[in-house]
Amino acid sequence: MANSEYEYVKREFEFDRRLPASNWIVVRIDGCHFHRFSKIHAFEKPNDENALRLMNACATSMLEKFPDIVFAYGVSDEYSFVFREETEFYQRRESKILSLCVSYFTSLYGMKWKDFFPNKDLREPPYFDGRVVCYPNMKTIHDYLAWRQVDCHINNHYNTCFWMLVKSGKTEKEAQQTLKGTFSKDKNELLSQQFQVNYEDEPAMFRKGSSVYRDKVETKVKTDDYGNPIKRIRLAITVSNLDIIGPEFWEKHQYILQEGKYRYEYVKKFDDIHRLPCCNWIVVRISACQFDQFSLIHSFDKPNDETALSLMNASASLMMEQFPGIIFGYGFSNEYSFVFQKNTELYQRNERLILSSCSSCFTSFYMMKWKEYFPSKELVQPPKFEAEVLCYPKPKIVCDYLSWRQAECHNRNQYNTCFWMLVKSGEEENKANEILKGTLSKDKNELLFQRFQMNYNNEPAMFRKGSCTYRQKVKVSGDVVRDGWDVAVTHVDMGPDFWRKHMSIFDK
Ligand code: GTP
Ligand code: MG
Repeated sequence: MANSEYEYVKREFEFDRRLPASNWIVVRIDGCHFHRFSKIHAFEKPNDENALRLMNACATSMLEKFPDIVFAYGVSDEYSFVFREETEFYQRRESKILSLCVSYFTSLYGMKWKDFFPNKDLREPPYFDGRVVCYPNMKTIHDYLAWRQVDCHINNHYNTCFWMLVKSGKTEKEAQQTLKGTFSKDKNELLSQQFQVNYEDEPAMFRKGSSVYRDKVETKVKTDDYGNPIKRIRLAITVSNLDIIGPEFWEKHQYILQEGKYRYEYVKKFDDIHRLPCCNWIVVRISACQFDQFSLIHSFDKPNDETALSLMNASASLMMEQFPGIIFGYGFSNEYSFVFQKNTELYQRNERLILSSCSSCFTSFYMMKWKEYFPSKELVQPPKFEAEVLCYPKPKIVCDYLSWRQAECHNRNQYNTCFWMLVKSGEEENKANEILKGTLSKDKNELLFQRFQMNYNNEPAMFRKGSCTYRQKVKVSGDVVRDGWDVAVTHVDMGPDFWRKHMSIFDK
């Protein structure tokens, strides 16, 4: 296919989730609203043999169509399909595998309906939903199938009793009441004593569900010259209603779920690279971990240590030099958010590489600059920063994100300012929290003014507004004066006025 100028919409936005290698892939489909569907089509209760045989016929055709399905297990309106561990079916693309399985099964169900219900018209289109689950080893895939069969037993045992009671004249409510809290052996007793039914004599398809797989069967292929039959072992798709919880079945059929024989290169398939979608602004937010302890050990001023904040800003400026793709930074307290231009190709937008290199780089700058900002303070504990990556498709949303962080800065700083003023004036910390509980912004301003004659708005802007970091054009003097760029740090409101003045930041 030729690459048109529009082709990027696929390349840059369509991300196919590939299911991890070396796992058994299970697609479990389930009839949608089959409670209603079975009523409309007057299925027998609790089990309609034809309906179940129709499901089995569809599952058999699934195995015929898709050789990588090695096992299927079905009960009621559900069927699980197990793909072999090393399948490369549609390169293990999740949505392809899932949609194809439910769609093909649905087609089969419609097409085969008449074979099983020759005297009933389909009165409503049947449809199924499905999910995909990966099981990493033999134990978990065995346990998955055992779980479905145990479920089959529990439901069928209950339903058998329930419908026997109802058919014998009890109301559904009474039947429910009779069965409430009963154990398996109580149900067996009820069946044998009230209805002379031995549960074990019920059809195996109802009690055990149905398994579909390729079985080894001996078939006569031809006769030799003396008329003796020549037999070969062939694999034939079989439906059985055996126990698959215990080990016997699996010991006899070891070839069904055998582990794949990989060459070592397959380990590369586990490297699941997540690329951030293009045409989105990437925000990396870095925040110091266990900062309470860190600031205590290094005796930072409370609630704000101006030097520590300046050190954060200096590290942020270095980040902007290191990563030309950063167009804006905003920080307060122990956190800093960096906005990358929407088309940055940093690490081909590989999320993990962006996240890890940013947090590592910031940590390194913070340590490097420490001595310059705290010449008489030893760095006695290594600082550590965690990072998160966010993706925003519109400048408006980036601005809203930044406003949200600035509102957070305001709320926290106003609270902390009041709190430490109260504590420094002699209040217990508990009491200070008590006083501030439920107060609004204007209450806090009043408290500061009335108790401490302090106008909150006169507090340093860096504390109240946080710090914005961005590039601005400057004249660089030298032999010839020329235009250059410098990193500016300001402490202002990031309201509409600010963005009207600085919208060009997003045009880069
Ligand atoms: P969703 O799957 O959530 O869409 O609802 P659902 O109505 O399909 O219910 P669910 O899958 O939980 O259960 C399957 C339902 O199908 C059962 O509750 C029964 O009502 C019905 N059903 C399945 N097999 C038979 C059958 O052989 N006979 C009858 N009478 N009903 C059946
Ligand atoms: Mg259902």
